[in-house]
Amino acid sequence: MIVTTSQLFKHAYGKYAVGAYNINNAEQAMGLFKGAISSQAPFIIQISKGARKYTDKKMLEAVIRAADEIFPDAIFAVHLDHGDEETCYDCINSGFYSSVMIDASHDPFDKNVEITKRVTDAAHKKGISVEAELGMLGGVEEDIKVDEGHAMLTDPAEAEDFVKKTGCDSLACAIGTSHGAFKFKGRQSLHFDVLEKIKARMPGFPLVMHGSSSVPKDEVDRINAAGGTIKDSMGVDVNEYLPAAKLGVTKINIDTDGRLVWTRVHREFFRDKPGEFDFRPPGKIFIEEYAKFIASRNVLLGSANQLTDLRKSLGK
Ligand code: G3H
Ligand code: 13P
Ligand code: ZN
Repeated sequence: MIVTTSQLFKHAYGKYAVGAYNINNAEQAMGLFKGAISSQAPFIIQISKGARKYTDKKMLEAVIRAADEIFPDAIFAVHLDHGDEETCYDCINSGFYSSVMIDASHDPFDKNVEITKRVTDAAHKKGISVEAELGMLGGVEEDIKVDEGHAMLTDPAEAEDFVKKTGCDSLACAIGTSHGAFKFKGRQSLHFDVLEKIKARMPGFPLVMHGSSSVPKDEVDRINAAGGTIKDSMGVDVNEYLPAAKLGVTKINIDTDGRLVWTRVHREFFRDKPGEFDFRPPGKIFIEEYAKFIASRNVLLGSANQLTDLRKSLGK
């Protein structure tokens, strides 16, 4: 069942965070739905601009509609990840997405407000939720690269002003994370002080944490033992997910970790079976491994075993 992110956040706020997982193909979709059902967790499927272009936006839509039929108990939102204004309108008008992210965080404050407000007004007319972003994460996002020195934590007073002026439904805040597998050089911790200040100004308002992959060391070690060369990687400490949720983070974005699962499975498979060229056997292993990964993350986010209560509160 497709719901909006606002519906999910209403149930989660202050108690747990909903996992937001990026998908690009059918194998990821199968693993995601399987893992969500086995852990009895609601979730958010995120589709980036790159994912929409990878095969075709219609292909992903069809995959998700099929998964919804195969797993009738699933409760999830379909969300555009890091959208520009034009892509937001395309998703809003598609009749399929229940949530969009307008990411104008690289623009000056006033322009970010102006763009976000336009998108929010259009989305709300169709009952679609809007996530916006204020502050600047380090790392790589599609075609934009921000080095660590230029990353900017979200200013709590600006965040309050921004939400009032735009009417957006949730806000992605920069609190020390970055996209990709190389998040921290020294200190590995979120800026809980910033989260506390934002929550004090906007109690009850859903916050979003991007760049939340944990980049598990054992996963990277296995990739490297099978021919990979990933060095100096570091992710978010998984023990910080729930404390962040208690401070109002209702959506935790995880993409890189799923790519690591894919890479480990396929590197090991073809290393051990060099004569193999059927991609379905490793694909099947990936689906199972990704499902296990999703279930383990949902436990850490506190979203596991929330489905029955959520269904009740949705009146379904
Ligand atoms: O924030 C970026 C997400 O991890 C999506 O990555 O743009 O390569 O699909 P992508
Ligand atoms: P990671 O690169 O940490 O998985 O972050 C993904 C993300 O924020 C998608 O918007
Ligand atoms: Zn992101």
